[in-house]
Amino acid sequence: MAKRHSWWEGAVIYQLIPRSFADGNGDGIGDIQGLVNRLSYLRWLGVEAIWLTPIYPSPLQDGGYDITDFKNIHPELGDLSSFHRLLTSAHAKGLKIILDLVLNHTSHLHPWFQRARWAPKGSPERDVYVWSDDTTRYSDAPVLFRNFESSNWEWDEVAKQYYFHRFLRHQPDLNYENPWVQEQMLEVVDFWLNRGVDGFRLDAVPFLFEAEGSRCEGLPETHAFLKKVRKRIDQNGRDVLLLAEAIQPVEEASPYLVSDELHGAFNFVLTAHLFAAVASGNVQKLRFCLDEAQKSVPGCRWALPLRNHDELWLGDGHLVAEDVIQTIRTGLHQSNGHWLNRGINRRLAPLLNGDPRSNRLLHGLLYSLPGMPCLYYGDELGMGDWPGLRDRDPNRTPMAWTSARNGGFSTAPEPLLVLPAITAPGYDYRVLNVEVQKQLPASLLNWHRRMLTCRRHLSALRNGDFEILESTHPSVIVYLRSSENMTVLVAANFSAAGASLSLNLNRWKGARAREVLWGCEYPVANEDWFIYLPSYGFNWWLIGEVDE
Ligand code: GLC
Ligand code: CA
Repeated sequence: MAKRHSWWEGAVIYQLIPRSFADGNGDGIGDIQGLVNRLSYLRWLGVEAIWLTPIYPSPLQDGGYDITDFKNIHPELGDLSSFHRLLTSAHAKGLKIILDLVLNHTSHLHPWFQRARWAPKGSPERDVYVWSDDTTRYSDAPVLFRNFESSNWEWDEVAKQYYFHRFLRHQPDLNYENPWVQEQMLEVVDFWLNRGVDGFRLDAVPFLFEAEGSRCEGLPETHAFLKKVRKRIDQNGRDVLLLAEAIQPVEEASPYLVSDELHGAFNFVLTAHLFAAVASGNVQKLRFCLDEAQKSVPGCRWALPLRNHDELWLGDGHLVAEDVIQTIRTGLHQSNGHWLNRGINRRLAPLLNGDPRSNRLLHGLLYSLPGMPCLYYGDELGMGDWPGLRDRDPNRTPMAWTSARNGGFSTAPEPLLVLPAITAPGYDYRVLNVEVQKQLPASLLNWHRRMLTCRRHLSALRNGDFEILESTHPSVIVYLRSSENMTVLVAANFSAAGASLSLNLNRWKGARAREVLWGCEYPVANEDWFIYLPSYGFNWWLIGEVDE
């Protein structure tokens, strides 16, 4: 019997910020109705799932990752009935909905925290968060938001104690030692499961528990709790994705992927090595990283992002060499890419100096590697950013839909917009938008759509086996994706210069070969197959095609 695949295996995930995507009621703030109106665009583009950054009530001190009510919708975005409409409309179009699940902390304005600080020391109400009389506890836990915080402890004048926060001081950490906290958060999972969501992106997953003398990351108790979350999902009986955000090396992220824990995790190390390969023209570390990730967790369980709503993480000094980081920051886009807490605070297109060739190269890899390719809203257009906005807002500006005012994002007067639409030279929404690019056959948008169409027709790219081949060129990575009746050969050139090389295709001797993207027949496979890849060029070949 054929193995049943989960919907998310190899699915293309489109990440969007609801406040910045489309405004349905003209108040300048993107909302759920706006997204519902644009679902046909996402269907047309060919993505399969939509990951929404947090949509819950929040004072927005950390882009909605500071939540005051886990079981409701931010009033500016809509309400539970608009969310129901979104789910129904998305499902009718074959699109899945993934919610952000923030387990580690709440907003400091959450009623639980307000109750905790007024409750007596040692009381059950106080015990919902992590408190201390001094700041010496858990001193081995690094401060993550270094630009904004200098300590993980904050003094509370009402409680007369310090509370622990791995992120902003507006985000007190929940105390997972407390069974009541665990039960509440499991109920949050149930709440959204019962509403019919298709998956959760588990925010900041390593940090749930603390222990003295450790970095307070990925502790055994944290894994034990995540297994409870998984149980709830399994009890529900539907095919629901649990996707971990753990910004860590592969060997520290893979323990979340044991069989009774989470289904997937982002491979941020791969992201770093993709950028490093473009910057250095050398694919050695990229090859190594792909190999390592597949060896530790084979198959499609790694989610593959290029950019997201956060900074571009390039490792904390160990992954990517300092001179390569400098090239990514300065060389590629010829201005000093702003370093925020842990990485570069820019969008993909400006990071690549607006060069559509490297945009295609990097997405071409994502769409052909084993895993779940993640596309960040706007990157399918090569949308720009607004350096100088606060925190990570440069990467979170409104989607460019048309050449009309505010890029068609909203009919509100410009000053009311959630963030300014991009008018920077080269990235101006009047030129760079969905409407214009739909009409240009050679646009980046149409390219993404064509690639996603090809991918849908090639089952080997979705869940086939993966094998890296030897390459005689230091800038060219070559690999195979193969399923029972199909083999796709991929070669990609990370150099700004063209590359010619020969591949040994002896194992398919005599088989037909055809370019996937352009449909050209190639000479039949044999020992020495000479290929030429232009600057940042790549190609997909179908080998040994079976006639239908
Ligand atoms: C994750 C989110 C980030 C947020 C942080 C705290 O890293 O991606 O945007 O600030 O968690 O919730
Ligand atoms: Ca609105």
